[in-house]
This record gives sequence, structure tokens and C-alpha cells, in this order.
Amino acid sequence: MAEKVCPVWIGYILASPVRKLYQNPKKILGPYVKEGMKILDIGCAMGFFSLPLAEMVGCNGRVICVDIQEKMIRSLEKRAQKAGLSDRIETRLCKNNSLGLDDFKGEIDFALASAVVHEVSDASGFFSEIQKTIKPTGKFLVVEPKGRVSKKDFETTVSIAEQNGFEVIDSPQIRRSRIVLLGKKTLKGNI
Ligand SMILES: C[S@@+](CC[C@H](N)C(=O)[O-])C[C@H]1O[C@@H](n2cnc3c(N)ncnc32)[C@H](O)[C@@H]1O
Repeated sequence: MAEKVCPVWIGYILASPVRKLYQNPKKILGPYVKEGMKILDIGCAMGFFSLPLAEMVGCNGRVICVDIQEKMIRSLEKRAQKAGLSDRIETRLCKNNSLGLDDFKGEIDFALASAVVHEVSDASGFFSEIQKTIKPTGKFLVVEPKGRVSKKDFETTVSIAEQNGFEVIDSPQIRRSRIVLLGKKTLKGNI
């Protein structure tokens, strides 16, 4: 595991409802998520975004939550159960060098990686793997914390995404964050 991976105790802080005061998941994700969608929450930790996503996709949707740390996944499962959302949430423990998402080729409507990319040791492999899971019309929102990721490092991240089959659709604003909304490179030609 990479040394810079978020410790589990921070996972509890990240899942705190107080965070909603400056990062409201439904407000942030509302423009992209619809009922019935199949969603990826990559680096989900304890589910700050996963649980609202599960509410937003409704009973016909699905949220696939992937993380490299078992304790994060187990805590998310408990929270999902408590919230009555387990039937819409699928959890996956992944490896450092693979998200293990080969079975979702071209199926994902929307993917989220919030505060994850700066922890990933092979960003190129990471983007390439996610790109293959996204539908031709699907979108991928990458959010990084301003306090940890410089403007220059974020530009490098966006450039790695572009080298791996994504294009920039938008640069939304979220407090304390650097953000890019990505689509598959073919998207422009399709609309
Ligand atoms: C800072 S936390 C962010 C959690 C959550 N997305 C949020 O915004 O609250 C980063 C999470 O990404 C996970 N992570 C780090 N490297 C990863 C990788 N290569 N693949 C999947 N998850 C990873 C960590 O275990 C941790 O749970």
C-alpha cells in the first residue's frame, strides 16, 4: 500500500455529518446523478458520498464502492445497513495496482473519485481502468482537496486523465476543492 494512503481514523472524520456544511453530497452530485444509474465511488472510505449516492439512484440503481482498505469498506457496509441502503450498494476491496473493475466494461453512468487521486501510486493505470468502465455518455468527477493538491499537481492529474482517454467537460466549483468533470474522448463527437 502507498505510504500516503489516508489513515482509518481520518476516515471517521471524513464521514462526519459536519462536513455536509461545506460539502453537501446531494448538491455537488445532483447535476450528474439520476435514478436507476450505475455509479462508481472510487476510494469510497466510509461512504460520505456513497450513502447519499445510493439514495439518489433509488431502488433500481446501484453504487459500486471501491477502496484499498478493508476497514473503510467494513465501516461503510455497517453504515449502509443502518441506513437501509445495503441492497443498492456493492462493496469491493481493491488492490494497490488494480481497481478490479473488468466486469463493468462500458456500464458505468457516473464515477466519482473524491480526494483519492493524490493517494494513488499509478495515476495513469487508475484513469485507464476507470475509462474502460464508463459508458460512452458517462461522466467522471474528480475532486481533490486544495490543501493537499497544488494547482500544478492538479493540472498534471488532468493531463494524465487526458492521456488515458478522457476529455474535460467542465470545471465545477466546490469549496476547498479542485475539480474536473471528465467524459470519454468520444463524447464530443456524439452530441
Ligand atoms: C482521503 S480518503 C477520501 C474518501 C472519500 N472519497 C471522501 O471524499 O470522503 C481517500 C480514500 O481512497 C482510498 N484509496 C487510496 N488509494 C486507493 C487506490 N489505489 N484505489 C482505491 N482506493 C484508494 C483510501 O483508502 C481512502 O479510503
